[in-house]
Amino acid sequence: MMSQPAEAVRRSASIVATGAYLPSRVMTNADLEKIIDTSDEWILTRTGIRERRIADEGELTSDMGARAAEQALQQSGIDPKSIDLIIVATCTPDTVFPSTACHIQHKIGATRAAAFDLQAACSGFLYALVTAEQFVAAGAYQTVLVIGAEKLSSIINWQDRNTCVLFGDGAGAVILQHRPGARGLLAYDLGADGAQTEILSLPAGGCRMPITHQVLDERLHFLQMSGKEVYRYAVSAMNRSAENCLEKAGCKPEDLRWIVPHQANFRIIEAVAQRLNVSMEHFIINLDRYGNTSSACLPIALHETSMAGNLKQGDLILMVAFGGGLTWASTVLEW
Ligand code: ACO
Repeated sequence: MMSQPAEAVRRSASIVATGAYLPSRVMTNADLEKIIDTSDEWILTRTGIRERRIADEGELTSDMGARAAEQALQQSGIDPKSIDLIIVATCTPDTVFPSTACHIQHKIGATRAAAFDLQAACSGFLYALVTAEQFVAAGAYQTVLVIGAEKLSSIINWQDRNTCVLFGDGAGAVILQHRPGARGLLAYDLGADGAQTEILSLPAGGCRMPITHQVLDERLHFLQMSGKEVYRYAVSAMNRSAENCLEKAGCKPEDLRWIVPHQANFRIIEAVAQRLNVSMEHFIINLDRYGNTSSACLPIALHETSMAGNLKQGDLILMVAFGGGLTWASTVLEW
């Protein structure tokens, strides 16, 4: 008689290293005042952003992603050749194909790694982290590099004050492995509402609207957003997703040491804090210095918190994001 297969045991997956890279060029609100009709006061009070980083013309998403990855590799002493898989979350890839992950694989010498990009706009990093976790939990891969990297300055319409003040460039990276005895990623919540594709999008450049002279004249190859609608949706979707994820993890908001929210707007973060009834002291915020770097926001914030010595073993961390698609995502992990 054939024996029943033993129930598959999922291995835990932990973040064992972090890295980040920010371009050196700082663009302040005062700099923006010189190119569009805006003011430091408007930007600061509506968003909380003071300045953002802008990559050089020749500095690519893959360059920034590779720098962040190298930092995580150095920090952990992990050999790039031992990386099994690279997932890059980005909506500003170097090229439509090959993937930015392939460019990074070459740049960091991760010759054994499989590599692909994943796109869920600002929720991309958490979508990628959860995807990576599946490979580690299943025992398929030992070491997965997850990167969020963006050169948003390349898709911004610098004549549109509604959007150009909000975004910045940068990259963050984490390495995921099974760490015996650690609980790692405890729960996740991913979601999307494809009925809302029009309120935040980059209309041209895909097969729906190939680049033509007319498209360029109408500036349809740049990001477009209905800020107010996105704002309203962001607050409720982030809150709902965070609550679902906490429930799946069996935690309460008061158990959390840190909440790392998507860094789009200080007022959105305050609204989420109020609804979750968690003090702002528990929220990691760096949007004042970097603006919204889309899929790079969360790994940059996590890395900075780790480098400041503020992540202790056993800390429960909720990450929650929201972006174009519309998409949303949350994870709860134990550090
Ligand atoms: N400087 C000065 N005035 C401005 C600027 C600016 N940079 N931008 C807009 N205004 C004006 C508008 O023209 C409008 O003027 P009007 O009333 O005369 O028409 C006025 O300010 C108010 O504009 P609102 O849109 O009502 O401003 P609001 O308070 O909603 O703030 C903002 C706008 C900051 C964009 C907010 O709606 C927001 O943060 N939305 C969410 C954005 C977001 O989370 N995006 C995440 C997506 S990231 C991704 O997935 C790639």
